[in-house]
Amino acid sequence: MDGSMSQTVTGAVDAPFYLPQDDECAVFSAAHANGLPLILKGPTGCGKTRFVAHMAAKLGRKLYTVACHDDLAAADLIGRYLLKGGETVWVDGPLTRAVREGAICYLDEVVEARKDVTVVLHPLTDDRRILPVDRTGEELEAAPGFMLVASYNPGYQNILKTLKPSTRQRFLSVEFDFPKPDLEVRVVAQESGLDEGRVHSLVRLAGKLRALKGQDIEEGVSTRLVVYAATLIAQGMGVERAVQAAMIEPLSDDEDVKRGLLDLVTAVFG
Ligand SMILES: Nc1ncnc2c1ncn2[C@@H]1O[C@H](COP(=O)(O)OP(=O)(O)OP(=O)(O)O)[C@@H](O)[C@H]1O
Ligand SMILES: [Mg+2]
Repeated sequence: MDGSMSQTVTGAVDAPFYLPQDDECAVFSAAHANGLPLILKGPTGCGKTRFVAHMAAKLGRKLYTVACHDDLAAADLIGRYLLKGGETVWVDGPLTRAVREGAICYLDEVVEARKDVTVVLHPLTDDRRILPVDRTGEELEAAPGFMLVASYNPGYQNILKTLKPSTRQRFLSVEFDFPKPDLEVRVVAQESGLDEGRVHSLVRLAGKLRALKGQDIEEGVSTRLVVYAATLIAQGMGVERAVQAAMIEPLSDDEDVKRGLLDLVTAVFG
């Protein structure tokens, strides 16, 4: 396989832990059952990737994940002829494989992909459900069970990077946000092994930091970072050091801003 491609494949295994925020599992299942594509919108580290991994495993579908970027070409999704031992052979890309196998194809950060890539998705995401593979002359009909899922973060510096209406209106969309405090406590405790009592203050701090979004910091602290902080504390690191490394430094490089954020830490932990 082309080594430059960032792609992962996972088979049907025990579903990874995912705590629903709302009725997103039902929406995903209904989309899958009806062959409809789905977009997940939401800030970094709020659980989108985990949700897709969880649902793919629950539905018993193989998952092909592609991290999109602006160098990604349509051939990276569809496939290409490669030279193997003096012979030219066709190698399916992850999208083509998912279409043939009835698997789930997850395009992470789809707004990063070039327009020529998103256009490839069009015949697959309307009622035709076909993938034209121009290079081999095939026109593949998506196997039952095939589903296209895409995600993006509508926040940071993405004002210029949005999907064309003709693309986004081919997908169902679900908005994600950080889990509500009581749910986030359960998520962080489960993921880190730190007891819920000690996780509470971390989640309270996360709420205060998120309230600063758009003023001093670009993005609120992610659930991922709260899990990091709790993991360090569960391993024996002092709370203040763990919080600084996991929940303050990743948010800003500005000394004044960081001092302000540390004041919030003192306010929460005393
Ligand atoms: N509802 C949830 N259930 C279980 N774990 C969660 C949940 N929400 C967040 N997490 C935790 O947060 C971490 C980050 O989530 P994930 O990687 O899915 O974020 P993401 O939304 O895909 O972020 P990005 O946009 O940066 O890719 C997960 O590894 C998991 O530990
Ligand atoms: Mg992700």
